[in-house]
Amino acid sequence: MKRIFSGIKPTGHLTLGNYLGAMRRWVEVDQHRSGSLFSVVDLHALTIEHDPARVRRLSRQAATLLLAAGLDPELCTLFVQSHVDEHARLSYILECTATDGELRRMIQYKEKSARARESGQSVRLSLLTYPALMAADILAYRTDEVPVGEDQTQHVELTRDLAVRFNQRYGHTFTVPRATHPPVAARVMDLQDPTSKMGKSHEAGAGIVYLLDEADVVRKKVMRAVTDSGRDVAYDREERPGVTNLLEIMAACTGRDPRELAGEYGSYGALKKDVADAVVEVLRPVRVRHAELAADPAYIDEVLRKGADRARGMARPTVDAAYRAIGLLPA
Ligand code: TYM
Repeated sequence: MKRIFSGIKPTGHLTLGNYLGAMRRWVEVDQHRSGSLFSVVDLHALTIEHDPARVRRLSRQAATLLLAAGLDPELCTLFVQSHVDEHARLSYILECTATDGELRRMIQYKEKSARARESGQSVRLSLLTYPALMAADILAYRTDEVPVGEDQTQHVELTRDLAVRFNQRYGHTFTVPRATHPPVAARVMDLQDPTSKMGKSHEAGAGIVYLLDEADVVRKKVMRAVTDSGRDVAYDREERPGVTNLLEIMAACTGRDPRELAGEYGSYGALKKDVADAVVEVLRPVRVRHAELAADPAYIDEVLRKGADRARGMARPTVDAAYRAIGLLPA
């Protein structure tokens, strides 16, 4: 049995990038393989300036959207990270395994801390230690595979390094996990700036398609997507980032090959229209189901409560073993 774990952090409304890069594969593939866990990793949302009421709202919304997208609590375990103490317990142990140099090298830390400093905000210590918590999320379940978008690769690599180091120093405790990515759309780019990732915590929304955007809003955003100076539709990440992004989105929505799709279009306008239709069709059932589920918060609470109970039972023995291995007296 392969153990699968992945998470999503409630720092903003979920985007098409989250969906194509991660969620859709969790629904279509990963949850059907035994032993998969998916978590709304709310502790990670506290690493930047936050509003408590908003984090609460977004956590509930993320859980609801994961169910709306098709996660089935009969097949997988869905839970909220902060409901399972083992994550924070293990995070400290992994902070004692990682070095500060290693954490300072993380690209997301460098980018986010620079952005915070530029806008005159202080940088929370947890932004630096975040990858140790993420490693704890993964290692607590003896995870084999971590299905994520491309932007998480470096964090999963660090997780592997920490697992290997801990096992070598203190005895075999953790499974060494590996990241898996979707064949296309592992990095969906912002429609207004196709050289940067479509990210839910970014300020401007014009280049970001949110899962709960109305159909006409989705169409408008796609039709206004920035394309490239050339005229022909070509698949080329370096030279044609805008068009290539649209081709990837289209390919992910339709299950086709992006290079093959490129050959079928003579103009940017025609491509954009079809991309808009494809995205609207993919998101429609998610929005409809989200509205139904959001009307029944008691059901969501029940799913999350059962999920946390199950997750706790799985994580506890591994985290206890790590505590003993590193030299802490059993309670
Ligand atoms: P987060 O919340 O930023 O994103 C959740 C998932 O969506 C993917 N993703 C994308 N994929 C393609 N294109 C995009 N533009 C795009 N934007 C986001 C992410 O790669 C991710 O798979 N640190 C993680 C959350 C986390 C986690 C974990 C993940 C915490 N602990 C343990 C896996 C295992 C994060 O910030 O994801």
